[in-house]
Amino acid sequence: MKPLIIAIDGPAGAGKSTVAKLAAQKLNYTYIDTGAMYRAVAWQALHEGVEPNNREIAGLARKLDVKLSYVDGKTKVAVAGQDITEAIRTPEVSRLVAKVAQVPELRDVMLKLQREMASQGGVVMDGRDIGTHVLPNADIKIFLTASIAERAKRRWRELTDKGYTIVLAELENEIACRDKEDCEREVAPLIAAADAIQVDTTHLSIDDTVEKILNLCKERQTNV
Ligand code: DC
Repeated sequence: MKPLIIAIDGPAGAGKSTVAKLAAQKLNYTYIDTGAMYRAVAWQALHEGVEPNNREIAGLARKLDVKLSYVDGKTKVAVAGQDITEAIRTPEVSRLVAKVAQVPELRDVMLKLQREMASQGGVVMDGRDIGTHVLPNADIKIFLTASIAERAKRRWRELTDKGYTIVLAELENEIACRDKEDCEREVAPLIAAADAIQVDTTHLSIDDTVEKILNLCKERQTNV
């Protein structure tokens, strides 16, 4: 059967990475977390103490050395050989990343890299601009959403489990701000591709969402 290219886009906390990872596992495909790639650059900016302005981030983009690898079904992220898988999930990185992701030079470099990563097919790639810009010819495009309240609750659970003390209302605010930045930026804003299938996960379990995607794949494969 032809290995498919699956693009999953949507706002922060809609469940993209969880669902994309599980769908990829079931299909025996590669999962590519493009948000992790932008987070890696935000981490690098913090780590090197550079201002997150266009000029500095474009400088980081020119010497970009982000690598994703897969160990026991988990994505590992490295910058210049240093494992930063956990470090890119801190609230500091989350606060900075939307700014970093607005820099056109960086988006250009990422676009090429991500297309190359998907070139063999058999991939599930998640992000914000995958169906619209990175892989406009993807076989299946999903736009995953959920209410802000539900997304904040999910992030709150995730962070509290990791030992962070965080106020839910603050998280709601941050998510709303990040949505705004992601949707209103000039380059590759977060919008659903015209041919994307919208899936609202506010009241949908992870398993049900994954099943929906797997059914779409089956349908698609019988039609190619
Ligand atoms: O999915 P995430 O929360 O890990 O994404 C981190 C940030 O990166 C988020 O603010 C949006 C941005 N991003 C992007 O602009 N384009 C992508 N393809 C993926 C993520």
